[in-house]
Amino acid sequence: MCGIVGAYLRAQPCLRSLVRGLRVLEYRGYDSVGVGVIQDGAIVVRRKAGRIEELERALADGALDDAAIGIGHSRWATHGPPTDQNAHPHRDWLGRIALVHNGIIENYQELRVELERRAIPLRSQTDTEVLAHWVGIELESSGGDLAEAVRRALSRVRGYYAIAVLSGGERPQLVASREGPPLCVAILPDAAWLASDPLALIEHTRDVVFLEDGDVAELAPGKLVVRRLDGSVVTRASHHLDYDAEAADRGGFAHYMLKEVHEQPDVVSRALFGRVDEERGDVRFEEELLSDATLRAVTRVQINACGTALHAGMVARYLIEGLAGVPVDVDYASEFRYRRPVVVPGTLALGISQSGETADTLAALRLARELGCRQLALCNAVGSTMVRASEATILLRAGPEIGVASTKAFEAMLVASVLFAVRLARARGKLSSAEGRALLGELSQLRIGLEHMLTREVVAGIRALAERFTQARGFLYLGRGINFPIALEGALKLKEISYKHAEGYPAGEMKHGPIAMIDPDLTTVVIASKDSVASKVRSNIEQIRARGGPVICVGDDPESLEVADERIVVPSVSPWLSPLLNVVPLQLFAYYVALARGCDIDKPRNLAKSVTVE
Ligand code: AGP
Repeated sequence: MCGIVGAYLRAQPCLRSLVRGLRVLEYRGYDSVGVGVIQDGAIVVRRKAGRIEELERALADGALDDAAIGIGHSRWATHGPPTDQNAHPHRDWLGRIALVHNGIIENYQELRVELERRAIPLRSQTDTEVLAHWVGIELESSGGDLAEAVRRALSRVRGYYAIAVLSGGERPQLVASREGPPLCVAILPDAAWLASDPLALIEHTRDVVFLEDGDVAELAPGKLVVRRLDGSVVTRASHHLDYDAEAADRGGFAHYMLKEVHEQPDVVSRALFGRVDEERGDVRFEEELLSDATLRAVTRVQINACGTALHAGMVARYLIEGLAGVPVDVDYASEFRYRRPVVVPGTLALGISQSGETADTLAALRLARELGCRQLALCNAVGSTMVRASEATILLRAGPEIGVASTKAFEAMLVASVLFAVRLARARGKLSSAEGRALLGELSQLRIGLEHMLTREVVAGIRALAERFTQARGFLYLGRGINFPIALEGALKLKEISYKHAEGYPAGEMKHGPIAMIDPDLTTVVIASKDSVASKVRSNIEQIRARGGPVICVGDDPESLEVADERIVVPSVSPWLSPLLNVVPLQLFAYYVALARGCDIDKPRNLAKSVTVE
């Protein structure tokens, strides 16, 4: 949600780079933005509610253009509304330090009372300002050593944070720390950079250091000193990012979402690369956790995720139970973490996340570990908290996903789920090598079907359909079996980017309530694959049409397509793989409805790309 950037440059101006870094992080969602720099030894802050353009206007006088050291922040309000006053950076009461912060200081009320007792004036409603004053207090007792002051202040704090702090004076200092939300740094001979997301650093370097929880880092050009809260020095390895700058660009598409939808054939190929053992009809993974011996000991799989990742987890349940015969529970991570889950010995916890930073998913994974589960992550972000906190990871390899509405990461989650299910089934002797070979062979060919769905002609047909149905009062999405989660995903995509009301349902539940809503103004999108439940889906379509409800059918079941009012024909594929194709027209349908309604597709209102707080 919030974003942090920071720079300490040797004899070069940093302001433009900070603003560019904030632009890269825009996709995460924000409602105010600010920078703090050192100008002639003093800290100067400019901050604005609203978009980065507002901040740029506030910086247009050029007064800060020469500053070489600074921090920047995009805020997504948690404590206090999005106002100039509540925007970051916050300074201590004497203006000696400036601080930006992602996350939440849980005991800020307690600290605030103590500040009031010391007659320190508070100028905002944020938890962040409280921390800025605490760093200021500790600066006095640390002889002006900012890193020590930050360590001392943080030892009084309970919460979940990533911070960057700047101090002025004769010896300017830049310090960063994290406990929860991600933060990475990059050190070059003439520059030190920091950011909450490595994407903001790739214009400068591909070699970054991810800070660990409890690290406090002091940065300067050519210098990085990382200490733990107790002052002990630690070394952190550098990671090379194989993102390319072009990948974070729209590449000629009108929106990142559309570009990412079109990337899906490549995403599937990348996710499969080097992992398919054609001869043995099996999947190759390096991790010990995915070896035959370990997988044979798995008694149950517990999947935790949120939003689109949860829908991928629901598809994974059909695959794992159907192919490997292992029972699966799928939970909203936010529910799992707060109930008292009963976990049987031998349970493997499977966390699914694009960002690897979703607070609820991380907490659920942590709880599963405490309950004795082994942990596997399906995750897109190399170096994310989830990857580092799990025993093993199947990397999604979808590349950076910028559009808030997740599309290509979902496709990659489905590929990873098929690979994991096949590996589990092969390890447990539930799938023969011939069966494995056939399924993986089809998966390797899937890009042909995906490319067909993305041809100009098919996309134009979906666009025309979307434009015809833009006025519908609402949408009902129905699917059965492995395509039921695809109905949920289609409805989620539509509501998050077009703000149209849409609900996903298992088609068999229709008669238990939703059928009452059917009328000519409610459009039903039915996913109909040629599988064991095809005839039941077909009769659902007939029942809706008999009540005057228009039906758009998506899939490859000819008879269902025949009885619907409108159809999007999807190439035939094994039912296990049908979700990977069926979701694509639903993504495009949502996109074109949103486009026709003039919505801000890449930055839907109220949504953040990565939900790092509850
Ligand atoms: C997807 O379109 C959503 N914006 C959202 O539901 C997302 O999938 C969810 O917040 C989980 O994110 P994650 O995959 O980064 O954990």
